Order: sequence, then C-alpha cells, then structure tokens
Amino acid sequence: MKRLEIMKVKKLSRTHLENRLAWLNHPDVYQYMNMQYPLTFEEMESWYDRIKGNQLRIDLVFEEENEVVAMTGLTNIDFADGLAEYYILVNPEKQGQGFGKASTQFTTNYAFNKFNLNKIYLYTNSYNTRANKLYLKLGFQQEGLLRKHKFKNGGFIDRCIFGLLKDDWKQQSYSSDIVSLTS
Ligand SMILES: CC(C)(COP(=O)(O)OP(=O)(O)OC[C@H]1O[C@@H](n2cnc3c(N)ncnc32)[C@H](O)[C@@H]1OP(=O)(O)O)[C@@H](O)C(=O)NCCC(=O)NCCS
Repeated sequence: MKRLEIMKVKKLSRTHLENRLAWLNHPDVYQYMNMQYPLTFEEMESWYDRIKGNQLRIDLVFEEENEVVAMTGLTNIDFADGLAEYYILVNPEKQGQGFGKASTQFTTNYAFNKFNLNKIYLYTNSYNTRANKLYLKLGFQQEGLLRKHKFKNGGFIDRCIFGLLKDDWKQQSYSSDIVSLTS
C-alpha cells in the first residue's frame, strides 16, 4: 500500500502545537528555516491564535500509526492570481523515510483540486539539498536564485525560488492520487 494511503491528514489544531514547537527548535529543522530561535510555547500559541481563522491559508498535519510525521501548509493564498506559498516540516526523527515526498504530493494535489490554484511557489535556503531535490523530483522548477537574500548565523545566504504550475503538475503521475482529509 502506498504511504499516502496509510497516512491520516488533519487540519492543524492546538493539540499539535507542542510537536510543532519541538520540531521548529530542532537543529535539523531550524537550520533550514528562517525564524527567531528558540521559539517559546507562548509565541507558538499566540501565532496559532492569529492564524486559526485565516481563510487565506491551510495548515495540515500528517500522522502515521498515531505519530505525527509531517506538517505542511499553503499560505498567502491569492485567489485572484491563483497562487499560494508552500511550506513543510518533517518530524526530525522521521526525515529521509519518504514522508516529505508523500505529504508534499498530498498538499499539491489538495491545492490544485480544492483551491483551483494555478501555481504553488516556495523558497529554500540554497544549501537545503534535500528539499531542493524533493521539489525537483515532484515537478517543481527552480525559477531563480536570490543572491544573499537572508541574514542568518552572522552572514548573508542565498535562497532558491521554486514553482509548480498546474500544467506541470498534471503531467506528474502522483497528480491523479485521490486526496481527502481524515475527519
Ligand atoms: C526537506 C524535507 C521536507 C524532506 O522530507 P524527507 O521526509 O526528509 O524526504 P523524503 O524521505 O521524502 O525524500 C524526498 C527526496 O529528497 C531527497 N533526499 C532525501 N534524503 C536526502 C539526503 N539525505 N540528501 C539529499 N537528498 C535527499 C531525495 O531526492 C528524496 O527522493 P527519493 O527518496 O525518491 O530519492 C525534510 O527533510 C525536512 O522537513 N527538513 C527540515 C525542514 C525543511 O527543510 N523544510 C523545507 C524548507 S523549504
């Protein structure tokens, strides 16, 4: 059975915030994200209170055998231009096991089927080889390199921008997988 068929997919809720905080404060995650560290639980809760009613984003949680394995989201959804920005975090204890691929496939299918978007885009820190490879494998194209675009750990770093057009996505074998949230 395919990994996508085994995973449960839910909307992010307050009960997931402890996991999310632990992941974001883990070096295997925070070296690739650009937030202020360490994050506190109070900051995480106030972030959640700000975003929870926002109709221009969706935050998803993936579970396998009752363990949270990944979180993804679409933010800055722009219905006029058919655009949204994608993010993903995989449980630091579960990276490299296919969860990133499966949850990205789910979220892109969800985006194009449920929100009728035309394009998903995202940024990576250029040294994030694993993420860069993942996106290329799923049909995203690198659309640019943003030179010295972020100040991190005492120096400027390059960032990559990737995009997946609906037309490119339709050519991907995973685009026909059926996606629905677990109630
Ligand atoms: C980047 C991330 C989402 C990838 O998810 P993952 O579950 O670790 O990756 P997967 O096991 O699904 O592998 C997907 C692809 O990534 C690439 N990959 C996986 N491990 C890799 C490694 N150690 N080195 C290079 N590429 C690797 C491969 O192309 C792989 O596809 P394949 O197995 O078919 O060859 C995850 O590692 C993560 O959350 N990292 C920290 C946060 C982050 O970087 N988020 C993205 C910011 S843009």
